[in-house]
Amino acid sequence: MQQPSRSIISNQQMMHPDLDDVIQKHLVSVYQKPILAFNQSAFKTADKMYQQYQGNFILDSGCGVGESTYQIAKKFPDAFVLGIDQSKYRIDTNSEWTLPENALLLRADLVDFWRLAAEADWQLARHYLLYPNPWPKKKHLQRRWHGHPVFLALKELGGKIELRTNWKIYAEEFSHALNILMEKNYQMEIFVPEKPITPFERKYQLSGQELYRVSKIT
Ligand SMILES: C[S@@+](CC[C@H](N)C(=O)[O-])C[C@H]1O[C@@H](n2cnc3c(N)ncnc32)[C@H](O)[C@@H]1O
Repeated sequence: MQQPSRSIISNQQMMHPDLDDVIQKHLVSVYQKPILAFNQSAFKTADKMYQQYQGNFILDSGCGVGESTYQIAKKFPDAFVLGIDQSKYRIDTNSEWTLPENALLLRADLVDFWRLAAEADWQLARHYLLYPNPWPKKKHLQRRWHGHPVFLALKELGGKIELRTNWKIYAEEFSHALNILMEKNYQMEIFVPEKPITPFERKYQLSGQELYRVSKIT
């Protein structure tokens, strides 16, 4: 039986006051952290698939055990869906479903992988970020995706971005940050999944938590 999940507790009660400044700082500086060899090697594998694949390419960033990668690949059978997670344990845990031919899981750190893909001019059709680690302490803003320098790579990678989270402030910040980076095209909403597509989504829903989605205004 799944353990109930507690709602997020944070010492931050509204959007972070430094968010705009942090993004502006990243917009005028160059992020120079060296790329690690294991990410370079994972990217080489991925890039081969990207170059060979003629159709739409979708990233499931932070895919965990890959249940969402499986579900997204079923939903978009004409696209290729690549699930990326830094945890070897999570990537190797998948035992309940067999990935279809249009999906693959790879271990890599997205901080390097996104930059490599952006440098290689990847253009995604869709980009999912499902239940990223919230880093709810106020001092951890720069660990959240939108507070990290690699956030800028999301624009270069393109595609319709969809983020889901159980922390309202994360969703508010992420959509605000996307709207600084791109045209004002993203919105957040309360979201009730008909059928959960990730273990975290299932856990939060079973615990009665409110879920939020950030996606492109259609
Ligand atoms: C809260 S879990 C959510 C997993 C999955 N999306 C789900 O909903 O079940 C966050 C995932 O992001 C992955 N992650 C966090 N930072 C990452 C990074 N820099 N690169 C790759 N994966 C990362 C973690 O390993 C973890 O599996």
